[in-house]
Amino acid sequence: MKITVIGAGNVGATTAQRLVDRQLANEVVIVDILEGIPQGKALDIYESTPVEKTDVRVTGTNGYAETAGSDIIVITAGIARKPGMSRDDLMNTNSGIVKSCTEQAVAKSPKAILVVVSNPLDVMTYVAMKVSGFPRERVVGMAGVLDTARFRSFIALELNVSVEDVTAFVLGGHGDSMVPLARYSTVAGIPIPELLSKEALDRLIKRTRDGGIEIVNYLKTGSAYYAPSAAAVQMVESIVKDKKRILPSSVYLQGEYGIRDTFVGVPVKLGRGGMEEIIQIKLNADEQAALNKSASEVAAQIAKLKL
Ligand code: NAI
Ligand code: 2OP
Repeated sequence: MKITVIGAGNVGATTAQRLVDRQLANEVVIVDILEGIPQGKALDIYESTPVEKTDVRVTGTNGYAETAGSDIIVITAGIARKPGMSRDDLMNTNSGIVKSCTEQAVAKSPKAILVVVSNPLDVMTYVAMKVSGFPRERVVGMAGVLDTARFRSFIALELNVSVEDVTAFVLGGHGDSMVPLARYSTVAGIPIPELLSKEALDRLIKRTRDGGIEIVNYLKTGSAYYAPSAAAVQMVESIVKDKKRILPSSVYLQGEYGIRDTFVGVPVKLGRGGMEEIIQIKLNADEQAALNKSASEVAAQIAKLKL
């Protein structure tokens, strides 16, 4: 198993470190345009392997020759948000970056599965699919695992229970219109509307929607990366180990949920084939309307792309 991580910034480097710590590949390659940064971070991570007892070769590079034959490519290259910026503000810059990275990476690894992280997430995942020409099964975007992890953390804090017992469900695009679904979110199997007041639920849902900006406002120089890298690695792990976990991911819908020709977050089965199945659940009218709105916002952004 060979995994390439494109972008040696906060998310990319942390993702590479987690992949190595969990020994999810024999070889991890980190690519960035900055000279010395991927090389230095890769060497530093590699030097942690005797301590962590993980036999993984880690290489840093400014080119793509070393990435040849990758099974999975995680794309984190691009600029991140600063206070006052929305994810969509990143679109023009990052679409050029994701296009160029994807073109170069897939030329060397035509059978890879692409896991996209760069923002605006759903639009960048579309860029990666379009530019690679890969089937939709091999291009997935990471956002839902992060958004549900945030929702789960806030529910656990509010109820003073273990995060392990909290499951949550968030649909839609990774943006202000994401759709946290309370009735499919549970604590030890109990739906959270039975445990939380409407006021508390609305507050936690709002905090989840604003989860990205909450961190940006603290950090000021960039955006979240510990939880995002953990989320990306959970998706990679399900693919590498063929776990067939059901994880919310951004995928290209072709009529599922009544939506077509756009990427949006829905529950999918992730295994060795990439996105192996889209799980369709019954939504009530309000939930479907919220998902449609979220999907149409992504579609409107995609329509503005000049690839
Ligand atoms: P960062 O600024 O720390 O790192 C980005 C890296 O990309 C930099 O090292 C930069 O040199 C590199 N880069 C730029 N152009 C490149 C190119 N053409 N080829 C290779 N590398 C290139 O940013 P961070 O925090 O790592 O975030 C990366 C991206 O991930 C951002 O777009 C951010 O908004 C997004 N993100 C998405 C999340 C999600 O839930 N989908 C969560 C967190 C971040
Ligand atoms: C987040 O939600 C920046 O999209 C990123 O933290």
